[in-house]
Amino acid sequence: LHLKNETTEDLDLSLFSYAEFSIFDAANDRDNYQYTYNIATCYKEDSYIFHDTLYCLYKIIAYHCSSHQFQGFDCDREDFIGPYNTEANPRGVLAGRLNNKNISGGNPCGALHVDLSLSEGKEEDILFIIGIEETKEAIKKVSQRYFSPGYTEERLQEVKDYWRQIFDRFIIETPSSEINSFINVWNPYQIRTTFYLSRGASIYEGGIRRGMGYRDSNQDTLGPAYQLDDELHGLLSELLSFQYEDGKACHGYFKMSREGYGEDPYSDDHLWLILSITNYIKESGDTAFLDKKIPYYESTKEGTVFQHMEQALEFSRVNYGDHHIPLAFHADWNDCLNLRGPRGKGESVWVGFLYHRALLEFIELCRMTGKEDRVKKYEEDARKIKEIINSHAWDGYWYVRAFDDNGRVIGSNKNKYGKIFLNAQSWAVYSGVASLERGKCAMDMVRKHCFSEHGLALLWPAFREYDRSIGSITFYPPGLKENAGIFCHANTWAILAECILGRGDIAMEYYMRLLPPHANEIATLHKSEPYVYAQVIAGPEHQDFGLARNSWLTGTASWMFYVFTHYILGIRPFYNGLIIDPCIPSYWEGFTAKRQFRKTMYTMTVKNPEKICGGVKTIAVDGKVVQGNIVPLTSGKEVKVEVVLGK
Ligand code: NOJ
Repeated sequence: LHLKNETTEDLDLSLFSYAEFSIFDAANDRDNYQYTYNIATCYKEDSYIFHDTLYCLYKIIAYHCSSHQFQGFDCDREDFIGPYNTEANPRGVLAGRLNNKNISGGNPCGALHVDLSLSEGKEEDILFIIGIEETKEAIKKVSQRYFSPGYTEERLQEVKDYWRQIFDRFIIETPSSEINSFINVWNPYQIRTTFYLSRGASIYEGGIRRGMGYRDSNQDTLGPAYQLDDELHGLLSELLSFQYEDGKACHGYFKMSREGYGEDPYSDDHLWLILSITNYIKESGDTAFLDKKIPYYESTKEGTVFQHMEQALEFSRVNYGDHHIPLAFHADWNDCLNLRGPRGKGESVWVGFLYHRALLEFIELCRMTGKEDRVKKYEEDARKIKEIINSHAWDGYWYVRAFDDNGRVIGSNKNKYGKIFLNAQSWAVYSGVASLERGKCAMDMVRKHCFSEHGLALLWPAFREYDRSIGSITFYPPGLKENAGIFCHANTWAILAECILGRGDIAMEYYMRLLPPHANEIATLHKSEPYVYAQVIAGPEHQDFGLARNSWLTGTASWMFYVFTHYILGIRPFYNGLIIDPCIPSYWEGFTAKRQFRKTMYTMTVKNPEKICGGVKTIAVDGKVVQGNIVPLTSGKEVKVEVVLGK
């Protein structure tokens, strides 16, 4: 804490610190009060508060201390907060004095009271430390180090330098200062957080329910691939080790216990591997990864990464229903669309799109890594699924979303609720299944039925009756979560689809609707932090339309960064270079970007003299014009790229 007395008086101040301690066993601490309320030990000794509950089991001591001598302390949460009070008005602070109470059983905390006199114009640093170590000797050693002059400032500088070198890998300058600050700082910060924590402990999840989500973690690698090298290799290897021999994958797993769960498969989990691995190889150039051997989850057998990928495609190729569309199993990306039913026949058109996209990525990978012999087979699989979807799933103006266990169509104009689903249209385009004509028509219908001032609703109209054959999507109130909420994650794919269709103005409009600082204007309604994406915003059919929930750990962060940089700015890593293919709003005059790719820093200037959305007229690399729109790989450290858009 840095304090400066800017008044014209000398001040006598009382400072209070407060930290809650957990019992070292999160599950017990949360639900076993008959035990936890009787086991805590927390006490002052010398100038420290120690919390060594269950030391015998875990060999951990938590502690709290200050650089300044303290006048009082409290180790009892109930005593510090006081009856009927909260952290907003703790008894100890209101009274201006603490009760110096150790506890033996009860609710542990560490609170300190430091008195400080600060004369006019003076300033002072006060340090409060919480930490854990194995012994009291170690605690004293560590804390004394922090109290030595300059040490804490140096550590803080290290933290800042750490983030600076991450941010410096991708710096942009566009006509929008909100976008610049978001892409240069906040979005990279959030995608690193989702990369490490996936759907682990947060204020919205206790952390013991899901651990690392399989599809989530795969998608969480897409955005930060440019920031991470070895760690990406590590996470992908870990994900592959939770894949079964037949190609399906666990739905999630716990990192520390290495336990996977979800034997009852989801229809999409395994397919995300193709997208995450190809993205990793394009970014890093690490084609050797394909030959790495990794065991399958349930057996002692191992396969190369390439074989794991082939197996993932095989699982979707052979598990299909009456329309020859992939089976829906428990659910697909939409956890709440549960279509399997007793006959096990529900089909997911959306998984068909994902499967097709994965096939295209895989075919490209085979071509670029000398595995031409595989190409024909996968091209034939891609042709088949594309034809099947186009003949069974086109509803006249858009694509349907699925078929339930009885063959009933979902996401059709014929339905009473859920007539049109956003993902079925955006992915029709992204997957390459839709023709340009159908793609434009489907996305126009999305604009007509799902677009609102706070973003695109996941479907329209919301379900208003329970329907177990469709699943838990119908349990939510209309306009919330998967039942026609504005699912931010899914909005990213609509932006992507609009870029593929070349409609940069619409893509930017959708992007800006969800840009968190944009919600500053409606902060009291929106409620979420204005510097991170939330999972969902209440949709137009809900009374709290515009209210955001579940911020931080959402696939939105990674995909938004990916879509903005790869598709709006159009800077896309590829196996043999950096593709430049912007789709910007026509009113932008251009932009600049500094981006690290492999070991080279690319400084790019993109000019838009004709005020169009996309289309590269010329690219000059270090002053020399290149053919096409790929900036070739180089061993140089720095490369200058000048791009002019034009018809
Ligand atoms: C949140 C889950 O983490 C994600 O895996 C899922 O795709 C979405 N909800 C949509 O249901």
